Amino acid sequence: MPALLNVEDYRRRARRVLPRLVFDYVDGGAEDERCLRRNRDALEALPLIPECLRDTSAMDIGIDLFGRRWNAPFAIAPIGLAGLVRPGADAMLASAAQAARVPFILSTASNTRIEDVRAAAPDATLWMQLYVMGERAIAERIVRRARAAGFQALMLTVDVPVSGLRERDLRHGFRVPMRLTPSTVFDMARHPGWLLRLARTGMPTFANLLPEDDEAPVSAQTQAALLSRTMDRTLNWDSIGWLRKLWDGPLLIKGLLGAEDAKRAVQHGADGIVVSNHGGRQLDAAPASVSALPAIVDAVGGRMPVLVDGGIRRGSDVVKALALGAQAVLLGRAPVYGVACDGMQGALSVLQLMAQETERTMTLMGASRVRELGPRHVGQPEFRSPLEQRSAAAQLKENTHGKPSIYPVHATA
Ligand SMILES: Cc1cc2nc3c(=O)[nH]c(=O)nc-3n(C[C@H](O)[C@H](O)[C@H](O)COP(=O)(O)O)c2cc1C
Repeated sequence: MPALLNVEDYRRRARRVLPRLVFDYVDGGAEDERCLRRNRDALEALPLIPECLRDTSAMDIGIDLFGRRWNAPFAIAPIGLAGLVRPGADAMLASAAQAARVPFILSTASNTRIEDVRAAAPDATLWMQLYVMGERAIAERIVRRARAAGFQALMLTVDVPVSGLRERDLRHGFRVPMRLTPSTVFDMARHPGWLLRLARTGMPTFANLLPEDDEAPVSAQTQAALLSRTMDRTLNWDSIGWLRKLWDGPLLIKGLLGAEDAKRAVQHGADGIVVSNHGGRQLDAAPASVSALPAIVDAVGGRMPVLVDGGIRRGSDVVKALALGAQAVLLGRAPVYGVACDGMQGALSVLQLMAQETERTMTLMGASRVRELGPRHVGQPEFRSPLEQRSAAAQLKENTHGKPSIYPVHATA
């Protein structure tokens, strides 16, 4: 089997080992997938400007955030329904994060219970991502349980008032209720490894919505709302006060793209934000998150940490985001491709290769600490015309014997 050298290699293998329906759930974006592509295009267009003849003999790519040490400047982003990729995926991601000494953010829509994820990764820095659906009591329950399980931070996702229109999912009949067509059944049957694992454990459930001992069961309506990402649309900036009362640890808001919203987050007492377009899965016309980052960093003016995610697939992408002022980045699909290929070990390998690439890039940049990176390290974006893009893609294909190790991928997926 060929070596898996980079995230794109893992992605390509994930496409082979997963039913198309599952791969597309992870890989896809909303509508025309412009935002999904924009995330990659914007990162690729940014050149890095190295500074030479600097002592890089003692490299350290670690950071300190909210009083904890991270061994690399990234965390694993929340991924709902990860159990569809591989049973136990949430715990695998948490264990990989623990081994790599970076945080893992558990989704409200996880398939493993909050307490079981903690048990799988007792020493990990865990954060809880929160979706607020109709029944606020459910959110309160999740916050309480996350605190009891020693989760360090709470991250409210605000870019999902409704789910984005994921057309790949619709074409596969992947919706509520799930519709199995002959072609999806055939698709699953062609991936016996995946099917066998799923057959052993059964279809993943929204484990955090299952009632604990003394709790009333969550309504079917709320479960369906989570599956279809139908959220409480009365949620507004004042709701941050409600959460503040429930949670005394770091409270982050995920899914902002505008400088004014970033200022509102500061005013409403958030402890941090994640500049994010949900990996291109929500508003298809949204900007690339890395393009939105500089104005937000400027607006926040150092009053709280700014994190960013979307399209991070190389260590150089991490370095670009940090140089533009992010304190850290989140990795979404990258570690999930790792889980698809090889469970916890696959996720860990992806984290390790991202850390190695980050360190190598920083060394080439002449920066031995993350804090040494700054906007001077990033040049003006160099966008290519569609014609240039096509000929570059063809050239790459030829140079790599038909196996390009960098995108453009989404256009063909
Ligand atoms: C399959 C999948 C499920 C996701 N589920 C959630 C979720 O439950 N909560 C959330 O806040 N973000 C969710 N996201 C968004 C990620 O947390 C993150 O913002 C995004 O994946 C980053 O982009 P990247 O995948 O290009 O790295 C999901 C993303 C994917 C790909």
